[in-house]
Amino acid sequence: MLVRRASDIKSSEITDDKLYLNRRAFLAGAAALALAPSRAAAAAPPSGQPLKAARNPGFAVEDPPTKFESVATYNNFYEFGVNKDDPARLAHTLRPRPWTVEVGGHVLRPKTYDIDELIRLFPLEERVYRLRCVEGWSMVIPWIGFPLASLIKRVEPTSQAKFVEFTTLLDPEQFPGQRKGLFSFSGLDWPYVEGLRLDEALHPLTLLTVGLYGQVLPNQNGAPVRVVVPWKYGFKSAKSIVRIRFVGEQPKTAWEKAAPQEYGFYSNVNPTVDHPRWSQATERRIGEFRRRKTLPFNGYADQVASLYTGMDLRKFY
Ligand code: MTE
Repeated sequence: MLVRRASDIKSSEITDDKLYLNRRAFLAGAAALALAPSRAAAAAPPSGQPLKAARNPGFAVEDPPTKFESVATYNNFYEFGVNKDDPARLAHTLRPRPWTVEVGGHVLRPKTYDIDELIRLFPLEERVYRLRCVEGWSMVIPWIGFPLASLIKRVEPTSQAKFVEFTTLLDPEQFPGQRKGLFSFSGLDWPYVEGLRLDEALHPLTLLTVGLYGQVLPNQNGAPVRVVVPWKYGFKSAKSIVRIRFVGEQPKTAWEKAAPQEYGFYSNVNPTVDHPRWSQATERRIGEFRRRKTLPFNGYADQVASLYTGMDLRKFY
């Protein structure tokens, strides 16, 4: 997702994605490509503290889950660097306790929650969701969390609340990628900010997430709390959240600020709207070789398409 100016991009890079992959598969051999994520598994971090939650069968896709090792070692978390293995390698610098989440803005009951208090407030459940990254890969992950809607109802948004803004921790001491320097360059303005329309945030699929695979969220996956919005590209799922704010105007998100022509506010998974630099029609499920067709709304159209009735999703990408 690195942001580069158009003038920095060689013309050979623009639509040659498929060709590049074919050539690479030919040269390196199909097996090497398929094995790439499991190679990363060699550096897999040890399992974390166990976290129990019963699976909610109404929110569990049947696709087989991606291996834990891949989920915990193939990450996008630019606060740790721009390479997929940077987060697992460097995330030990993040301190997920003590941690607070400030919930405020247009609500009747603003409150700064201690993370452990927040986790105890609502019953945790396990949900198996697909996650589709805008870069063209996907995973299936058994998350543990509770519906964001439960928290929203508790703080009682006023009629002025139209959007919800999520902010990640800003601390260059814990996040090397937030330090100024060539190697951390991501093109993003810190802190990482994401947002949802209030009805999207209230949707039963939207999960405030504190664990995965039966354990507390590994740092590299956004400890101690992140949001997961399965019908949108992965970057909407902000990690290591310290603030949730209810606002009247559409928030300016980190990716929109960095490259508005590439990353819109809605970012619903949409195989018919290409990213300006590559197609979104197919994806590679991590651990598989053959590319799959990307489904509208990442396969959640039955549940969420009605949120966008009458909207031109080419315009509101
Ligand atoms: N949140 C923050 N704060 N910083 C990031 O760089 N990357 C996003 C999203 N949340 C990101 C973030 C992107 S691009 C993706 S695909 C998902 O996190 C990846 O989540 P995972 O590493 O748990 O699979």
